Amino acid sequence: ISLKQYNTFGIDVNAKHFTSISNINDLEQALALKDYPEKLILGGGSNILLTKDQEMLVMHVNIKGISIVSEDDDFVIVKAYAGENWHDFVQWCLAHDFGGLENLSLIPGNVGTAPIQNIGAYGVELKDSFVSCEALSLETETFQTFLKTACNFGYRNSIFKNEAKGKYIITSVSFKLTKRHHKVNIGYGSISAKLEEMNITKPTIQDVSKAVIEIRESKLPNPKIIGNSGSFFKNPVISKTHFQKLYKNFNDIPSYPVSDVEVKIPAGWLIEKAGFKGKHFGDYGVHKNQALVLVNYGNASGTDILKLSNLIQNTVKRLFDISLEAEVNIL
Ligand code: EPU
Repeated sequence: ISLKQYNTFGIDVNAKHFTSISNINDLEQALALKDYPEKLILGGGSNILLTKDQEMLVMHVNIKGISIVSEDDDFVIVKAYAGENWHDFVQWCLAHDFGGLENLSLIPGNVGTAPIQNIGAYGVELKDSFVSCEALSLETETFQTFLKTACNFGYRNSIFKNEAKGKYIITSVSFKLTKRHHKVNIGYGSISAKLEEMNITKPTIQDVSKAVIEIRESKLPNPKIIGNSGSFFKNPVISKTHFQKLYKNFNDIPSYPVSDVEVKIPAGWLIEKAGFKGKHFGDYGVHKNQALVLVNYGNASGTDILKLSNLIQNTVKRLFDISLEAEVNIL
């Protein structure tokens, strides 16, 4: 079957073997298919670039459900199954006035894949409210609970991108959210500016969500209209010495502190400075409002996008001596 509708880049490759999993029973049945030693676990398809037809068994994890596990006056533990759409889940939390995920509004993808890259935006990361996730081990075929410390969360990183890569299917994720005394997080520059523009001085968690949605809609292409995978690269971390050298030639280079010796540079700035922002190459290119986002305008292939990604990496390396690392998984 074609995987076009299962990846937000809208790349048209085929899966030889495909199964959609809507409950734990389906999952166990799929695991019993011993003919397929290699399996591709697919959630919302928002963080992959498919460059070829897939020989593996593609397992589309579509298990739904949201429930309250426990609560007291101040906090609630909410568990969401892997196949829930991330943004719909955030909106469910806001409709119940549960706080903590509002800055992560409108991030594409599903709940089950969110921990893999520790999704983050506007000063908040998934790990800030994550409690645990349940995952099925493909090796032992038993369920395992990963508490936060076991997940080794980092910037767009977790155990599921490293030692545990490809070895587990995350089936549900639990979050600890506030029921009152919400702590709104508006430290990230553009949010406070947006709230001001909206004439809001005492923002609720719902207001923060609205501001984030407006900012994202103005900068990031809607994958339903233009195929994309959000940020294609991670923001690179470089030494302060390296930064000072670059600063001599580019005194408008932005940076965020990471440690005493390192800073993070927005990859979008590097790509824009390298001249790629808004560039069209036939059916693919670089988004006009955010250079970190590569886009498929129609019928681009995965290898087209990969070629562009290599060209960007080489150019950025040549101009700034910085190696950009892809954030999306290339398959
Ligand atoms: N910038 C440019 N040109 C561009 C884009 C960015 O110069 O075309 C510079 C500007 O200086 C801007 C700065 O980069 O002020 C930061 O831009 P922005 O706020 O858009 O954030 P980002 O660092 O480009 C990161 C995440 C996004 C997340 C935003 C907001 C990564 C790889 N990306 O982007 O995450 O939404 O911050 O928190 O960390 C994603 O992971 O898919 C994603 C969209």
